[in-house]
Amino acid sequence: MTHRTGIHVLAFDIYGTILNTNSITSGIKQHSHLDDEKAAQLSQLWRRYQLEYTWRLNSMGLYEPFDTVTKSSLKHAAAEMDIILADGEIAALMSDYSRLLPFEDAVPALEELSRNPNIKVVIFSNGTEQMVSTALHASLPEALLPLPLHLADSVRQYKPAPSIYDGLRKAFSDAPGAQGDSPDVWLVSGNPFDVTGARAAGLGAFWVDRAGGGWKDQIPMLTLV
Ligand code: LAC
Repeated sequence: MTHRTGIHVLAFDIYGTILNTNSITSGIKQHSHLDDEKAAQLSQLWRRYQLEYTWRLNSMGLYEPFDTVTKSSLKHAAAEMDIILADGEIAALMSDYSRLLPFEDAVPALEELSRNPNIKVVIFSNGTEQMVSTALHASLPEALLPLPLHLADSVRQYKPAPSIYDGLRKAFSDAPGAQGDSPDVWLVSGNPFDVTGARAAGLGAFWVDRAGGGWKDQIPMLTLV
């Protein structure tokens, strides 16, 4: 981390960093009666299309809110696997998506960081305000909430468009407590595409290796000191 006085802003990604998107697998099993393997496959394909849709929308200069994207990508993933989901099953899965489980270390880490007066924890996500606040209230202790939010809806573009990282920096560069010195803004994310996006936009970034498999992404990454 750079050595500057003032506040360090740690901007936490949600899906894949605080919340485990694979935890939807149990909801899939419950609502669709798929076996373990197929439910896990659907969960992974759903997540893949969810992200792919955000990148496609960015490339086309279009924007649809993340709940719409999440529902469309579920339908796409299910269709590709020849799984028929009734409207009620889709609604139940969308509701479960608001109650994804946090990774085990997420709550203790956020609690510890929130006690540090030199650190400001913010939430930085593609999710809509409704999705994010429902998910955080379901997964984090009340004492941690509310946390400041910076969401894709504010710029109507998804990560890794530079505008969302620039907006984050602008929103928090005058964070109270900075005592005249701009805080430095660091992303904390389990998503390599988010990490490279933050670096390309000039932010610092901490990558959380959620799968424990090491860094595999081949997009060139700026190295900050
Ligand atoms: C988010 C996506 C990247 O929470 O998972 O922004």
